[in-house]
Amino acid sequence: MNILQITDLHLCEGGAFAFGRADTALSLSRLTDYILSRPFPVDLVAVTGDISTDGSADSYRRAFGELQRLQRPFYITPGNHDDREVLLRVYREFCPEQTAVRWPFYCIEKDEIALAFLDSSSPGQSGGSVSDEGLRALSEAVQRTEKPFLLFLHHAPFRTGYTVMDEPFPQAERIPEILKERPGSLICCGHIHAAVLTHRQGVPVFVCPPAAMLMEFDLSEAGGDAFFLERPFFALHQVSGAGIVSHIGMVPASSGDTGPYRF
Ligand SMILES: [Fe+2]
Ligand SMILES: [Fe+2]
Repeated sequence: MNILQITDLHLCEGGAFAFGRADTALSLSRLTDYILSRPFPVDLVAVTGDISTDGSADSYRRAFGELQRLQRPFYITPGNHDDREVLLRVYREFCPEQTAVRWPFYCIEKDEIALAFLDSSSPGQSGGSVSDEGLRALSEAVQRTEKPFLLFLHHAPFRTGYTVMDEPFPQAERIPEILKERPGSLICCGHIHAAVLTHRQGVPVFVCPPAAMLMEFDLSEAGGDAFFLERPFFALHQVSGAGIVSHIGMVPASSGDTGPYRF
């Protein structure tokens, strides 16, 4: 089973540029074009938040209109830039059959894997935070199945080194503490706009790079606050009886990159 993870789409009302500069609608359409052109099947899509920059219904309609072109079910969890209420309302317009989708937690079991989605956003705050209700629901889901989990949430539950983005995340350690009961699980996040990998309590944690606005590589005190425009990123998690193999994919730049060339 191939699960495509897309994160930090950051669409804006009216197709406006994010932060006055980034054509995020173009980034997303280039990403979907690229996925559709690739010779691998995608079974479903997990979208890990910051779908919008401004929380507008129009931005969600633009995002979901694009994602529908993939003709695969897509599941969502909110980020700090999202308006949870508007997001869910527009999602229901586009995907009325996906009744399992709710905040702060839902879980879908597929073949050999449990796909869990945990809301780590809290209104008016850019850092991560998970509710007792969400953690309880995760814990109950873990007790219900022997399958390993792919847990999707927006915020990275650890300090990445991108200093400005590393805001407090109360209860972050509770997440791996619950998931370590299911060996072979993987925590998948976004938010940092970079690719980062670590483990917590034996559970691997993967930060997927963004669909738009890749973070400048700067691990200094001032780092984590500047982005580049080109190249949408995504991840493909391949799930089989042998476990999860995760790939980071990059859409080639529309200008500047030449190739591909054979080695
Ligand atoms: Fe973001
Ligand atoms: Fe974010």
